Amino acid sequence: MTNHPLLRADHLSFQYTPFDEKRKVPLFDRFSFALAPGERVAVAGRSGAGKSALLRLFARLLEPTGGILFFRERPYGEYFAPTLRRQVALVPQTPVIFDGDGRTNLTLHLDAPPDDATLRTWLDRFDLPADLLDREGRALSVGQKSRLTVIRSLLMAPDVVLLDEPTAGLDAATEKIVVAALTEESQRRGMAMIVSAHHLDLIGPMVDRTITLHPPAEAA
Ligand SMILES: Nc1ncnc2c1ncn2[C@@H]1O[C@H](COP(=O)(O)OP(=O)(O)O)[C@@H](O)[C@H]1O
Ligand SMILES: [Mg+2]
Repeated sequence: MTNHPLLRADHLSFQYTPFDEKRKVPLFDRFSFALAPGERVAVAGRSGAGKSALLRLFARLLEPTGGILFFRERPYGEYFAPTLRRQVALVPQTPVIFDGDGRTNLTLHLDAPPDDATLRTWLDRFDLPADLLDREGRALSVGQKSRLTVIRSLLMAPDVVLLDEPTAGLDAATEKIVVAALTEESQRRGMAMIVSAHHLDLIGPMVDRTITLHPPAEAA
């Protein structure tokens, strides 16, 4: 089993119709890719290259227009989508925060939430203050919200985490801490990760390989 890819895209295509237009723009055209268990991959590319779309396809939030996606060598269509999304967990670039305090925001998807001491350890690893557990989630800064959503996903112990520009709203020092904590968690649990990034200064050295996407040609 370990020799098999965890995720696999076989000739994946995705095209979309721009607003108010008739033509179809191919964002991905027969793109093939395999992710090994525990592997770390960076997805680079300019704005509009399709980084977010690729992560959304892997999270089954977009339907491919061609090709097949596999998780553990079974086609995505064979899985119950919400179950798949716990094992292939997407952290969107814009943090999704629910009503309630930090604790609620971290644990609302969990059947057996960890105790506060464990949660505080997680906060500390991501350079967040312990009192955040009792603070209103919606009142946090964007950078705090974003790290909270990263921790929320990691607490579900996914096989692979898909991170869409997880450090976009952070200062350089915090960015370094987040990249280190993610890498450490990936190594500790053998969790695979796919991280999109607009620059590779920090994430580049932490991953096994980088794939670079290019925006579709305008003349389609
Ligand atoms: N579901 C969709 N419908 C229409 N256009 C889309 C859809 N998904 C992506 N796009 C377009 O595809 C291009 C790539 O978007 P995106 O994946 O957000 O790029 P990136 O994350 O690399 O900046 C953009 O031009 C975007 O408007
Ligand atoms: Mg994006």
